[in-house]
Amino acid sequence: MPAVSPAARDKAKTLLLRALGPSKVKTDPDDCAVYSRDESEAEGMVPDAVVLAEAAEDVLLALAVAREAGVPITPRAGGTGRTGGAVPVGGGIVLSLLGMNAIKEIDRREQIAVVGPGTVLSELHAAVEREGLFYPPDPNSSVGCALGGNVAENSGGPRGFKYGVTGDYVLGMEAFLIGGQRLSVGRRTRKGTTGYDLTSLLVGSEGTLAVFGDLTLRLLPKPEGLMTLMALFEDERGAARAVEEITGRGLIPRCIEFFDATTLQAVRDAKNPIDERARAMLMIEVDGDEAACEVASLGVADACEASGASEVLVAQEPAQREKLWAARKEMSPAVRKLAKHKLSEDVVVPRQQQGELLTRVRAVGERLGVRTLAYGHAGDGNFHVNFLWDDPDEVPRVDAAIEALFRDVIALGGTLTGEHGIGVLKAPYLPLEQASELIGVQRAIKGVFDPQGLLNPGKIFPARGHRDC
Ligand code: LAC
Ligand code: ZN
Repeated sequence: MPAVSPAARDKAKTLLLRALGPSKVKTDPDDCAVYSRDESEAEGMVPDAVVLAEAAEDVLLALAVAREAGVPITPRAGGTGRTGGAVPVGGGIVLSLLGMNAIKEIDRREQIAVVGPGTVLSELHAAVEREGLFYPPDPNSSVGCALGGNVAENSGGPRGFKYGVTGDYVLGMEAFLIGGQRLSVGRRTRKGTTGYDLTSLLVGSEGTLAVFGDLTLRLLPKPEGLMTLMALFEDERGAARAVEEITGRGLIPRCIEFFDATTLQAVRDAKNPIDERARAMLMIEVDGDEAACEVASLGVADACEASGASEVLVAQEPAQREKLWAARKEMSPAVRKLAKHKLSEDVVVPRQQQGELLTRVRAVGERLGVRTLAYGHAGDGNFHVNFLWDDPDEVPRVDAAIEALFRDVIALGGTLTGEHGIGVLKAPYLPLEQASELIGVQRAIKGVFDPQGLLNPGKIFPARGHRDC
């Protein structure tokens, strides 16, 4: 993390105010304070200045000032991230892109959209669906998250099982570099192999290599219909077996969402009457035309029953489906109410290992006396394992449980993060998954884009290497 002097911070404020004026530059600590956090537990500093960018020129100017004054700059879109990607750990400038929210183009024939980085995801969904088109990535924060952040984190969501994640839909982008250089990266065509694939490098780079302007996104035709099933199980192992059975039969529902006993109770509490005896549930959705939905849902129901489901229900009414999804989308805030503090991970394991992972999570929680729960995108083997605690004395045990989880995930052939990124919170654990040579190559790439380390410092790379790794 570069050390930043008070003089450098003052210089940045003066230059920004002079160039952009007080309507676009906030320096009052009360105004800036809300930009010190995102939706994770990562601690930030109150930034010295917040730039409310309205156009590419504002972004370029802020990036030029950051380099001239030598202060850190942290880009921010919706601020809904779960690992601290938008948190200014060293203060400096926060560059808010939410004002750059125009949907500039939706082309039905080419099936592409061009949007500003501040476009809120649910608005893009609605706009393309009005045209009979479909943008599949659907993180559950869709009413608040914005496309710039989705691309920076390579966000996923339930529909990832059938349709993939954000990166599968990014064809190209405007990229703004520290110092104020503008690059046009990628293409508008469906195929293209010219040069290195910088688009893929920038997707998921967590705001550490470049700031995004307009994003060119690939669309699909909107599926005609869908059908939602709920499969109830006596335990989580049964649900895990059903996921393997569904995928083993070659069925591809649009999503397979898992709920353990605690999160299933949260679904019940959101006024969804579900048999009290069930201790785990899969919510499975198939899409396509009516006949395809019919065939797929019969196959899914059969696979669940063959795996020991106690009941398989079909959501008959749109209102019933909406209530279920509302409970699913609200799961993270619902879980937050169960304790004073929670940490939510997004680990991924091969599908055949998910039953084993869930068993190990329980065992570690019991051994260390830490409350745990799990839900998530089981079709992808992607679980939100949560750790809950009330008392600060519990923190060392929670830390030990998190490290045990990550070690188990790696031992089972998995990966630390499926959709939330490494950010601040997982940076100390990066060496558990990646060799120092691989981390070194990534640091070298970072150095090409940002030699002074001013763009979103403190993210991805461990400060010193994890204490026990
Ligand atoms: C979810 C978020 C936490 O799936 O990724 O609810
Ligand atoms: Zn998720």
